[in-house]
Order: sequence, then structure tokens, then C-alpha cells
Amino acid sequence: MSNPANPTDPKTDLATPNHTPQLDAFTQVVESRRSVRKFTDTPIPDEVLDDCLRLAMLAPNSSTLQPWEVYVLDSAANREKANKSAMGQNAANTAALVIAVVARTDTWDERAKQNLREFPSSPVPKKVQNYYTKVVALDFVRGPANVASAAKWGLTQAVRTFKGPMKSPYYTFEDVKNWATNNTALAAENLILALRAHGFDSCAMGGFDEPALKKLLNLTDDHHVVMMIGAGERSEKGIYSEQYRFDFNEFVFRV
Ligand SMILES: Cc1cc2nc3c(=O)[nH]c(=O)nc-3n(C[C@H](O)[C@H](O)[C@H](O)COP(=O)(O)O)c2cc1C
Repeated sequence: MSNPANPTDPKTDLATPNHTPQLDAFTQVVESRRSVRKFTDTPIPDEVLDDCLRLAMLAPNSSTLQPWEVYVLDSAANREKANKSAMGQNAANTAALVIAVVARTDTWDERAKQNLREFPSSPVPKKVQNYYTKVVALDFVRGPANVASAAKWGLTQAVRTFKGPMKSPYYTFEDVKNWATNNTALAAENLILALRAHGFDSCAMGGFDEPALKKLLNLTDDHHVVMMIGAGERSEKGIYSEQYRFDFNEFVFRV
């Protein structure tokens, strides 16, 4: 039997640490990643960036709706303003690249239609059509001033009472924003790890002036900058302190 976790080696049967060669590489990438706040002048080649962005977008995301966007601050003028909106942090100032990772709250409808247009098999299975035309719509539609949300709430309670468990749909703008942000943060982490795997480093930044950055990027109320990322080659003094975490058991509950 081939191992789905390791399709290149049909001889291994179990996805245990001893059997997965990718574990070493993954552990090395995760353990060597640090938030780097000082970079050298070495640029990140375009093909490396493209591969990192491709890997970022392989992140899991709800219903393949991909509510994310990535803005690479390429022009010198934009870059200077972006550094300023990151409040002059070294992680931005010295970075080869500054990237804004953005969540969208208004693209679910068009992306649902795109899923039907670009579904990998044709004809699109009925179940999939039903999912993108009905289930996704019920999840997201709120109407002006959330008028549809009360009806959605009532319907959800009825389904839970008479049929069984049901996922909560999105009742408010904040619900949709949380949804979009969750998805986008996963892509951001993939991007950070992909940079590391390519030998580069990064620093996620939440410390930035979002209105200023949104103005610079011409973004709307339906764009939410989840984080800025400074990226480049780690400089010798790029790591400011030793890495530590609190006891694992404080965060893990086996129930
Ligand atoms: C959402 C988020 C926002 C962050 N914002 C900043 C920031 O504005 N400036 C900064 O220097 N580091 C920032 N960091 C990096 C953290 O300080 C860093 O991840 C943490 O101290 C752990 O260190 P390590 O990443 O080296 O393991 C941020 C990290 C995350 C995930």
C-alpha cells in the first residue's frame, strides 16, 4: 500500500516520524524560522518570491474561496511610504521586500462563481454546484444592515433542533471579517515558512498604521490588512533575542 503522506516512496506504509523524509525538512524550516528584524542588502530573486507566493496560496482555505490578496511594495516611492506606515521599524526599513497580506470580505460571491467556472472536472458535479450556489450563499448573504441575519439565525436554530449540528453562518460584517482574516493568516504563515525554506527570512508585523497603508494601496472598507511582512536575507545581527515559548501543556487540552 502506498503512503498518501509520502507519495514518492511507495515502500513506506505509515506516516510516522521514522517514515516521512519530509519531517526533517519541515522541522528544520519551522525550527530555524525566527522573526528577523535586520536584513542584508541581498535581494530576493523574483522566481523565489513567486514560488513563496505560490506556496502561500496552497494554504488551506474555506471552500477554496481564497479571500486573500498580497501586495508587494515594489516601487521605491511606495516602499518608502510603506516603511513609514510600519512606523519605521527595522524589520521594514532593512527588508529586501515589504509585503502587505490582505483579507477581503467582499469577494466570496465572485469566488464562488469562479469555483464553478474553474472546477477541475467537467461537468461540475451537482453537489458542487449546489454547494457554491446555495450553501455558500446562505453562509454569507446578510443583506443591507444584516436584514437577512435574523432569518438565518432562526433557520439555523431550527436545523439544530430538528436535524442536527449545523455550522453557524455569518451574521455580521465582523463574522465575515474573522472568516477572511483566519483564511488569510494561514496563507501568511505559509509565505513565512516558504521564505525560510528558500533560505530567506521574514518578520510578521502587526505594528503598522492600517489607515495609512490602506490609503497607500487604495484599499476599501472590504480590505483588511492582516499583517505586513518584511522579508530578506538574515543579517548577522538580525535576531534580537533567544526564542522561547511557554510550557506546551498550558495550551494543550486532551479532552
Ligand atoms: C501577528 C504578528 C504581529 C507581529 N508584529 C510585530 C511587529 O510589529 N514588529 C516586530 O518586530 N515583530 C512583530 N511580530 C513578531 C513577534 O514579535 C515574534 O513572532 C515573537 O516575538 C516570537 O519570536 P519568533 O517569531 O522569533 O519566534 C509579530 C508577529 C505576529 C505573528
